[in-house]
Amino acid sequence: MTENGADAGVVLALETSCDETAVALLDGAGRVLASRIASQEDAHRLYGGVVPEIAARAHLENLPPLLDAALQDAGAALTDLSAVAATAGPGLVGALLVGLSEGKGLALGLGVPFVPVNHIEGHALSPFLSIDGEAAAAVPERFAALVVSGGHTHVFAFSGFGIERLARTRDDAAGEAFDKVAKMASLGYPGGPAVDRLARRGVAKRPFAVAQFKDGSPDFSFSGLKTSVRERLLELGRAPAAGIPGGRRALEEDAAPRLCDLMADVEEAIVAQLLDRLSRLHEARRLGVLSVSGGVAANTLVRERIPAWGRARGVDVRVAPRALTGDNAVMIAFAGLRRLLAGRIGEGLGAVARSRWPLETLE
Ligand code: KG4
Ligand code: ZN
Repeated sequence: MTENGADAGVVLALETSCDETAVALLDGAGRVLASRIASQEDAHRLYGGVVPEIAARAHLENLPPLLDAALQDAGAALTDLSAVAATAGPGLVGALLVGLSEGKGLALGLGVPFVPVNHIEGHALSPFLSIDGEAAAAVPERFAALVVSGGHTHVFAFSGFGIERLARTRDDAAGEAFDKVAKMASLGYPGGPAVDRLARRGVAKRPFAVAQFKDGSPDFSFSGLKTSVRERLLELGRAPAAGIPGGRRALEEDAAPRLCDLMADVEEAIVAQLLDRLSRLHEARRLGVLSVSGGVAANTLVRERIPAWGRARGVDVRVAPRALTGDNAVMIAFAGLRRLLAGRIGEGLGAVARSRWPLETLE
């Protein structure tokens, strides 16, 4: 990518698929020129999850000032842009439409190419990006990608622009499991970071079983974990999801050692399942390079254990920079740039917003 970089100029990307509004600018070598994110966490917290209508409206409000700020950060003007990328799916259609329409309008007005980007492809490529001003690493011709977020727990095999799905979750995503456990323990939303913090203060003592499918599939399943955690919470003498006076922060600060231990067990269980599936996939087809991305890739134990697993097996594990694990537009710009340089911009301006858009269906 670096050799061709000079031709690609500056790529602008917009990401509005869920509850983060994000704008980024990347140069042709994949260097981050600007990255702005407006989180809507506070707007949705009251409801314990993302409300689609609130998300779409917040994107409409947040996008214009964010775009101005990002251009200013990069010291660039709209006329410097050589391409515009935007997330076209998967995600909330009303939310996606905000960034997609704005992106198309800008590209049309400027007379530059428009690149519709698959959000999951963005995550999968994020481990090749640098956040300290350096050019992006070359994307290998073949690599495997573990994407672990609030909506996805999938493993893909990339071969050029051909993508095969090797495993997926059959029920909850790993991030969803973190969020549901946190909700039951009254730790608030999103729950992954709170479970991570409590787990650091605890010691895993009672492992949960790793779910397996009778047909031997390497697919994931995290829904059983909730039931087991509910039982352990009752053992601790706490009704699941019972409110505690003083609110979430007080609860987290005063968390009993046994609750911290339980959260450490939960984290171990989720990581154990990820490693179990990766081991089986590696035995079946040798994973040379493995990218690890998505919100759950911010988790402390994930960031320790998966690279250690890789070192023991000769798998080159690349975990996304922590700042790029959650939703961001840098990864969308990078996926867009890679497609632009390869002349594979899909439907271009004809792209529509898609709530479902399985990565393995991309050509
Ligand atoms: O990629 P992301 O920001 O949004 C989706 O596309 O889903 O992922 C959000 C998910 C949430 O479920 C959140 O609880 C989880 O990532 N997460 C974590 C941590 N930070 C975020 N899970 C475990 N440990 C963390 N430190
Ligand atoms: Zn995401």
